[in-house]
Amino acid sequence: MDMALDKKTTKILAIETSCDETSASIIEFKEFSNKKLKLKIINNIVSSQIRLHAKYGGVYPELASREHNKNIIPVIQKTLCLNNKPRSLKQSSNLITKQLENIDYLAVTTTPGLIGSLLVGVNTVKTLSYITNKPVIPINHLSGHIYANFIDIDINNQPKFPLLSLVVSGGHTSLYYMKDHFQFELIGETIDDAAGEAYDKVAKMLNLGYPGGPIIDAYASKFKISKPKKLQITNYKPKNLFPRPMLNSKDFNFSFSGLKTSVLYYLRGKKITKKFQEKVAYEFQEAATDVLVTKTLKAAQKYKVKSILLGGGVAANSRLREKIESQTIDYNLQTNIFIPPVKYCTDNAAVIGAAAAYKLLKQKPEKWYDIEANANSEL
Ligand code: KG4
Ligand code: ZN
Repeated sequence: MDMALDKKTTKILAIETSCDETSASIIEFKEFSNKKLKLKIINNIVSSQIRLHAKYGGVYPELASREHNKNIIPVIQKTLCLNNKPRSLKQSSNLITKQLENIDYLAVTTTPGLIGSLLVGVNTVKTLSYITNKPVIPINHLSGHIYANFIDIDINNQPKFPLLSLVVSGGHTSLYYMKDHFQFELIGETIDDAAGEAYDKVAKMLNLGYPGGPIIDAYASKFKISKPKKLQITNYKPKNLFPRPMLNSKDFNFSFSGLKTSVLYYLRGKKITKKFQEKVAYEFQEAATDVLVTKTLKAAQKYKVKSILLGGGVAANSRLREKIESQTIDYNLQTNIFIPPVKYCTDNAAVIGAAAAYKLLKQKPEKWYDIEANANSEL
């Protein structure tokens, strides 16, 4: 059994504004031996702009940063449980300073993302740090998606190294090999569209709205495969309607652009009924998840990892979740699969706080004047 070395709890206020969710979270952790942390989410407030962007069929960057500007202070106030509207600026800053007294560190997503959106979170955290002198932990958004897997996990059942992490989001499809905390080795990534982007684009072609992932997921699960009447074979497997790009390539890269184009060609001249939407959603999802799961499991075999972690918005996908679990058994892999609860797959600040806690094991926090937002920086 692990012995607690240091029973002191540390608190982090984390902020996430990289895309279209304004989020703040307070997370608390205790350090145990073997670099194990017991994380507890005290509060995680997410203000989503999805409805606002839906009418544009995707995130409208200029609008996103304006919305973050509007929402960031109310979201932080709510996270800190400051319900009373302060009467003056002085009172407001006194209240926030007082609330931040119990916070040890500030954390913020500094990269990658929409620059106008990132800047709102980063500048807010710089200001809070300037006022309170609290150190800042700059976080790469993708590490947040990975460390979502360390939230609410019993100290003895945490992911074991070496591990493999599949980050599947609206902007990324990347496989990382990790020998230890905060050591990310990119072993494969998409050479064109991200998986989430393909879900969103296919949903758009099917007139299903934005964001496409959850809608395709729901439509696909309604589709029922009907077996041809004459065939009575029990494990009848219908022919794939769409290709599985790069399924058998020797590397661990992905490609989703060709799959998206195949869907586009298939739709030409066809009447889009609800049944048809369900069928195409199902066929597309089978193709996308086949590639994601097969390549991840092949990488797990090659790198002999002890755990596989999923993260990012597409990790919320019900079919991907069940397929990776069932195929791990088929592959006879002695690997534990970790998939965060759906609320920690899509963007939120709790996962940024979780990453920050683990980053502290490896790196010193920074001063506010050394923190910078950066639209494109890899892990
Ligand atoms: O991680 P995330 O919230 O934002 C980025 O970092 O990009 O991921 C958003 C992406 C969108 O493309 C969305 O369609 C997709 O995640 N997504 C899903 C599901 N829920 C969200 N994709 C497939 N199935 C879902 N259930
Ligand atoms: Zn994300």
